[in-house]
Amino acid sequence: MRLSRLLLWTAAGAGVCDAVTVEELAHNVSRIESLREIKDVTSTFAQLAQFGRYADMAALFAPEGTLLWGNTSIQGPEAIKTWLEADAGDMNGRLPGSLDTMVLATPLVNLAVDGKTAEGRWNGWRFQGDGKGATRMRGGIWENEYSVTQEGRWEIGVMRYHELYEGGYEGGWRNVGGRDFGLVPEFHYSAEEAGVPIPRGVAGVVGEGPEGVGLGRRIEDLNDEDEVRNLQHAWGYYVDRRLWGEVGELFGSHSWGVLRVDNVGVFEGPGGIKEGLERWMGGEGLKQGVLNEHLIFDTVVKIRQEVDENVPDAERMADARGIEIGLVGDQEKGTASWRFSFFQSSFVRRNGIWQFLNVTIAPLVVANYSDGWGHGGVMPASTVDPVLLDYTTRGTNKPIAQTATADSLEELSRRLSRSYGYEGTESISNAYGFYIDFIDGAACSLMAAIHHPYANKESPFAGFYHTRQRVLEACTQAYGTSARPTRSAISFHWRPQPVIHVSQDGRSASLRARLLQPATDKTAGTIRGGMYHDQMVLDENGSWKLWSLTIDEFYWTMNSWKEGWGGVEVRDKDAPDQPPPRDLVRQYPPDLWLNEMEGEREVGFMGGRERYVSWPEIQRMWFGYRNPVSGGVPENGSYCPGCVPCYQHKPEWGMTKHGWQEPPTGPTLVRAMFAPGNGSSDDGMFISVSVTPGPGEVVEGVVRLVGEQVELEYVLTEKDEGRVTFELPRNLSGGFHLLEATFSGSNRLKPGRDLIDLTLPGGPGSRLGD
Ligand SMILES: *[C@@H]1O[C@H](CO)[C@@H](O)[C@H](O)[C@H]1NC(C)=O
Ligand SMILES: *[C@@H]1O[C@H](CO)[C@@H](O)[C@H](O)[C@H]1NC(C)=O
Ligand SMILES: *[C@@H]1O[C@H](CO)[C@@H](O)[C@H](O)[C@H]1NC(C)=O
Ligand SMILES: *[C@@H]1O[C@H](CO)[C@@H](O)[C@H](O)[C@H]1NC(C)=O
Ligand SMILES: *[C@@H]1O[C@H](CO)[C@@H](O)[C@H](O)[C@H]1NC(C)=O
Ligand SMILES: *[C@@H]1O[C@H](CO)[C@@H](O)[C@H](O)[C@H]1NC(C)=O
Ligand SMILES: *[C@@H]1O[C@H](CO)[C@@H](O)[C@H](O)[C@H]1NC(C)=O
Ligand SMILES: *[C@@H]1O[C@H](CO)[C@@H](O)[C@H](O)[C@H]1NC(C)=O
Repeated sequence: MRLSRLLLWTAAGAGVCDAVTVEELAHNVSRIESLREIKDVTSTFAQLAQFGRYADMAALFAPEGTLLWGNTSIQGPEAIKTWLEADAGDMNGRLPGSLDTMVLATPLVNLAVDGKTAEGRWNGWRFQGDGKGATRMRGGIWENEYSVTQEGRWEIGVMRYHELYEGGYEGGWRNVGGRDFGLVPEFHYSAEEAGVPIPRGVAGVVGEGPEGVGLGRRIEDLNDEDEVRNLQHAWGYYVDRRLWGEVGELFGSHSWGVLRVDNVGVFEGPGGIKEGLERWMGGEGLKQGVLNEHLIFDTVVKIRQEVDENVPDAERMADARGIEIGLVGDQEKGTASWRFSFFQSSFVRRNGIWQFLNVTIAPLVVANYSDGWGHGGVMPASTVDPVLLDYTTRGTNKPIAQTATADSLEELSRRLSRSYGYEGTESISNAYGFYIDFIDGAACSLMAAIHHPYANKESPFAGFYHTRQRVLEACTQAYGTSARPTRSAISFHWRPQPVIHVSQDGRSASLRARLLQPATDKTAGTIRGGMYHDQMVLDENGSWKLWSLTIDEFYWTMNSWKEGWGGVEVRDKDAPDQPPPRDLVRQYPPDLWLNEMEGEREVGFMGGRERYVSWPEIQRMWFGYRNPVSGGVPENGSYCPGCVPCYQHKPEWGMTKHGWQEPPTGPTLVRAMFAPGNGSSDDGMFISVSVTPGPGEVVEGVVRLVGEQVELEYVLTEKDEGRVTFELPRNLSGGFHLLEATFSGSNRLKPGRDLIDLTLPGGPGSRLGD
């Protein structure tokens, strides 16, 4: 270990430990690419099941790979294929009316120190039906192992599935075998390792590939993947609330977006897209009783290496695909149904901002809740050709366009650290969920250990506890201090569909994730949903930790499998506004009580203020970020950025008070416009550049206006309120000029850019006089 590090530094000829070397950067790039590919190979495994492509699933295993399904062990791709096929039988997604939707969600992946193997924990679901009446549901946890080939391709070494609950549709799922649970399975990571997906200590392996080749481009790909994944996931959260205005804005101001819903229609342009959304999911907004949850899983993102000439102003393009499970209906009308679909989307980056180009939603089975999907549901067979994305083209030994970059190694390292922050944030988010699943005295200390010493965390229906020590004590107050060897019921805490905003220096992040709560016991299961709004930080030891955790619950529930989400009675109007406080509130009072939080934030939540809102009533949905394309704040004023208790109540708990940057809340919009002069008598030409951040965010940073004959710069300070007017040089030659206005970004704000062109008389491209 030590030897390779020394070798590396000798090879790099760098004597200073702190200096960024190309080798170390290349090493880090390939490690992060590895993490992504491991997640993609697993998501692809799930995506293939929807089409019964068991041979292709088996081909994702290493030649000696093993599938451990409960106590059954199957070795080698050929045997795995045979087993998968036999296990699915007619529930294979291929026969008419059949369904095999498998999801692997909420990854927590740790690479080995040498970067050649990895372990990953996932939550799993599987919904199956044969179209002839038979159904099967299964849920459990995967603990997988991965390894990389000589050629740099990641393969599955071991898939270890621990089935925890199962059942047919009619009776719902229950604990496998009606048994109690032990701690199944053990975690492959320690609490410390949960926040370190790429282990520290080894700087690189000599000869790891062409040093520095295409690094700038590969880092840009990783950063762009983060943006595209956020965009796809943000889409889902707007869809859930039928915020069609917000969804429309995700297509940007170009008017030729396309929405295709298979067997429903193809809808184009802003009006068309709205019509398509309404036809498939109903009118704008949610009214009492309406559920429109469209859960997104297994999103694979691929950045294209070329842009499509036909797409105007395209800087870069990308595609994403994944699985969608819809839980929809109208309780007042007595309707409820399941929707199992896949989606394929294309994206374009314009002026540095990613936006949707088109979305295809392909429903495979849509079924009435009371009937279930056993007989194939109510939609005709899908007509969309499922195009899986080739996720194996990232990385050193793979064909990737190589472009020189003028950016310094320090700058590239900073950008890369932002993608590592995305990974660290997702890991620690899922670590939290996995510990809470098995919460008891022992898990309390693990759960607390993934918090920073100055973190704050909400205990549901009570309030926030500040400091890791108090988080721990609140937990042990509620769950005791000893391990519980068995339990008869589990409420799982899945945190899928993250939207993650990493700070400019890559050391902090804000996260939104679902709380998706499948529950099981010995008789029957249920599902319910809430929302997490968290912040994470990179600590002094290089480990990602929770900084702040807010839980908004529940937005929708089921009381029983039989009745589903449509069978929940409206809460008695005469019932008290709030139930009596949890015991915890008296026994170990929070540092900030939910019911003492002035303002709107906790209104309507149980334990919060005023009358709590309970499904099928519609509770207000909060957003911690702005629209990722338009930059607008959410409709209805439901905007609460950053750490929720810090925002209006406990600013001293905020991360900036402890040396971290506050992560951005959305894009920084830069607009360059021709401006009238300032009233002086001369007739110069002026261009004003405006930089628009989120509400309350201060614009500081450098604005540049640059073209072939123009190079102007201005340092914006708070007093400029995000605006500067430049006078163009008087001696510009005639003809066409393209000017780029850029904003450098700041500790808080993302960079931004805009283009403006002008044509002056006299030159070859002169258009004046038209
Ligand atoms: C590489 O990643 C490690 C953390 O895994 C970090 O400490 C180091 O600064 C990174 N180096 C570069 C050059 O990005
Ligand atoms: C698996 O094997 C163990 C030990 O032999 C046994 O206790 C357990 O019941 C088996 N589980 C299943 C699902 O068959
Ligand atoms: C669901 O099925 C039941 C029983 O067949 C039927 O009465 C009901 O109308 C169906 N609902 C929908 C939305 O199709
Ligand atoms: C979406 O746009 C991409 C890029 O132009 C194109 O390749 C794809 O065919 C389009 N899909 C649909 C459904 O329009
Ligand atoms: C970093 O590690 C040291 C040594 O293990 C420990 O004392 C310290 O508390 C850690 N820092 C944080 C923020 O956890
Ligand atoms: C806005 O929020 C309020 C309070 O939750 C709610 O009553 C109202 O229906 C919401 N309006 C829209 C358009 O969603
Ligand atoms: C108007 O703008 C010109 C060019 O930027 C500048 O020299 C002049 O001082 C400005 N006059 C006023 C009144 O601001
Ligand atoms: C315009 O004038 C500036 C300063 O006088 C000079 O540096 C620049 O080269 C000139 N540009 C052109 C296109 O003549």
